[in-house]
Amino acid sequence: MRVLENVPIAKLTTMRIGGPARYVCEIISKEDFLEAWEFAKTKNLPTWFMGGGANTLGRDTGFDGVILLNKIPGIEIVAETDNSLQIKAMGGEEWDDVVEFACKRGFSGIEAMSKIPGTAGAAPVQNIGAYGQDIARILTSVDVFDTQSEEFITIPRAELKMDYRYTTFNHGPDAGRYFIVAITLHLSKHYLEPPFYNSLQNYIIEHGETDYSPLNIRRMVSEIRAHKLPDPEEIASSGSFFKNIYLDQVGADEAEEKGIPVWRSNDDSGKINSGWLIEKCDLKGKKIHGMRISDRAALVLINEDATSYTDLASARSEIINTVQQKFGYTLEQEPVEISDE
Ligand code: EPU
Repeated sequence: MRVLENVPIAKLTTMRIGGPARYVCEIISKEDFLEAWEFAKTKNLPTWFMGGGANTLGRDTGFDGVILLNKIPGIEIVAETDNSLQIKAMGGEEWDDVVEFACKRGFSGIEAMSKIPGTAGAAPVQNIGAYGQDIARILTSVDVFDTQSEEFITIPRAELKMDYRYTTFNHGPDAGRYFIVAITLHLSKHYLEPPFYNSLQNYIIEHGETDYSPLNIRRMVSEIRAHKLPDPEEIASSGSFFKNIYLDQVGADEAEEKGIPVWRSNDDSGKINSGWLIEKCDLKGKKIHGMRISDRAALVLINEDATSYTDLASARSEIINTVQQKFGYTLEQEPVEISDE
């Protein structure tokens, strides 16, 4: 196991902000994990589990503890029938490599989640989702190390509370309790059928697409994303910085009365696009404290030349307050922040 000392969190996260972490352990096996876990216990330091850092922010004070970086590799098919199959991806695999693995073999269920930055192990933590798919729908189980019982266990999907960007792993008393060793996904051999998620459907109509194979859906989603979302290799950001807003029926009716577009579900609850709210506040494309509100997708904050977490926090407050004053909704941040609280 490789142990690094005093590593700037800025170097571990796609937003490229954050002070030093005292120790970083690179984990490529379960044995490595146990070694790192003992290392932190011996030193009496708090731990933080991390994947690609695509949805994580570091504060200026850094982290006086041990970051365990999940780099455990491997993807395999673990069960198969005529219609469906299960694949197991180890936590340190790049999520998009898992999607590619499935699409290349014609397996459906995650193709619309192409090109989401981060690791497979991080994917269920915030229940990643895009273009009408989310991981909650196809997750079978998660192999974890439970830091309370100090053993490796498998948690079936049914025991995990999973909702829009909300799960047992990132909310409530069990947030941070589990190190995700592997995820098992249930995929289908049948292709998706229209209608698709709005922007994907528009693309399909515009380009006269008729091939709904996983590989072709992957190509289309990749192209849509490339136009809208910054490539984390080149541009510092955490993807969507704010969550969309989900409302019950009464809330959705109220929003419509105010003239805000609402996407209704079958049960009449609704969703407001936070990107729309930010855009209507004339913030799209603006730069505040070194942070740019993307001119392509207003939910995305780009770290152009912010020098600290303090800059980011100031920009965040300004955006939240402006939207709050104009529309009365409080935007919620999507990325989590490394802390030992
Ligand atoms: N919109 C605007 N202005 C904007 C952006 C969006 O008015 O600047 C409105 C438009 O009405 C548009 C609608 O919002 O039709 C939806 O926009 P889009 O499809 O781009 O998606 P999003 O709601 O902005 C969410 C996810 C993305 C995911 C896309 C596509 C969240 C927080 N974000 O964004 O996920 O890729 O849908 O499914 O739910 C991420 O979480 O990091 C992420 C990139």
